[in-house]
Amino acid sequence: MIAVTTATRWKAVTMSAPYPSDSPPDIYEPSRGDDPYETYRLLRAHFPILLDTRRPEGMYPHAQMGTGDRYLVSRFTDIHGILRDHENFSNQRRGTLPPGPQPSREEWRGNLIGDDPPRHGMIRQMVGSALTPRSMLALEPVIRRTVVAMIEGFDSAEGVDFAPRLAIPLPLWMIAYLLGVDDGEMEHFRKWSFASDPQHWRIYNESRGTADSADPEPERTAALAEFYEYFDAAVEARLDSGVDDLVSRLAAGQQKVGEDAFTRQELLQVIHLLLLGGNETTANLLTLVFNKLADEPGLWTRMRGDRSLVDKVVEETMRWDSPVQSIGRRVVRDTEIGGVAIAAESSLVLLLGSANRDERVFDRANQFALDREASHIGFGFGIHFCVGAPVTRLEVAIVLNELLDRYATMERTGEAKLAGTAPLGLLSESRRLRGYGQLPLRFSA
Ligand code: HEM
Repeated sequence: MIAVTTATRWKAVTMSAPYPSDSPPDIYEPSRGDDPYETYRLLRAHFPILLDTRRPEGMYPHAQMGTGDRYLVSRFTDIHGILRDHENFSNQRRGTLPPGPQPSREEWRGNLIGDDPPRHGMIRQMVGSALTPRSMLALEPVIRRTVVAMIEGFDSAEGVDFAPRLAIPLPLWMIAYLLGVDDGEMEHFRKWSFASDPQHWRIYNESRGTADSADPEPERTAALAEFYEYFDAAVEARLDSGVDDLVSRLAAGQQKVGEDAFTRQELLQVIHLLLLGGNETTANLLTLVFNKLADEPGLWTRMRGDRSLVDKVVEETMRWDSPVQSIGRRVVRDTEIGGVAIAAESSLVLLLGSANRDERVFDRANQFALDREASHIGFGFGIHFCVGAPVTRLEVAIVLNELLDRYATMERTGEAKLAGTAPLGLLSESRRLRGYGQLPLRFSA
């Protein structure tokens, strides 16, 4: 094991193939965020465990989980090993909390993704039981109807901006539906989804022309409080109602384990997590899939002739251009990763987008290929593997099939802009997510 001392720090983390310079590339240079894959390649080759000395504010904040140093981990095998070892690498973190007095770190018990075992398993069972591939069968016709309604008019001569027309509203509708939100409440639900984050709230207000408010914070927290009130009442109404849906399963599960083990407030935080976890991620995936298809028109034609390629295109996009580019873990005790000693309380930025392009695991890693055997880790791996993966896969496959049924060609009509740079978009500025906020396309029969 290599000991990391101040004097040997860079050396200790640069034990791979020689790099032309002693210091690593400036990973925070803005253009590296727009196209991160060459940077990832350099990191994997020369700095697979990179001590992140700069840590600019707003970059990878979700992975800042420990109080010590921060490392970027870029190789598949290291990340896979970390995700498998939840005893040494904790996912406990504070999620988005409702307005009001905030618990201390010791008091905070997590919200599923922020929980470690055994608590994680208890909550995961409640959520997972309502989102199995089997339960998706009942969902399919409902999603299909909604997609068909949303793609009406997609064949207009001037084309459509795929991001605001379909990729952004569909996943939001999907989560609302899963959570039993009435159609009449959709506009509120949309507002609540933006209220979870100050930057999203700014975008929401800009899109409605209401961005001038001197201090947007009180309105944002009021919207968040509305979300919690709405679902508190919804949970109450579900108890003993005979309804069988995601919220009723959570409500019944919480009653069974009792308030000491899992409070009503914590249940509401899990509902909030579902809203956050399933919305922007799926919207990003939809834009990444269609952006790739716009670059390879031959693929559209092939898929029309062979629908078994649809699922392959979805999985390969998850690998080739992962919507969730990075996740975090906290180092529980002194350990070693890839031959480097890492102290307890360090934070790890696990670069999923890099792992999925690792040439040590994926043959022709930079090529978009539909004949792959190796699995990607775009939905994570291990106990926190994405509970919404079946929903997302179904949703994207339905969109593809419905559009393939109707249109012989699909082409780009203007510049695609990464989310965060588009006027109404989703944010990728923190380098957590990747997707397009603007994607002009034309579909023709
Ligand atoms: C393209 C779409 C999606 C991507 C790329 C994605 C990605 C991920 C990843 C990487 C994780 C693991 C996080 C970690 O280990 O720290 C995760 C977990 C999770 N995802 Fe997703 N997700 C997507 C869609 C969804 C949807 C649709 C939902 C909700 C219906 C959802 C809800 C969750 C939840 C609740 C967890 C935490 C699971 C646990 O801790 O046991 N996700 N997701």
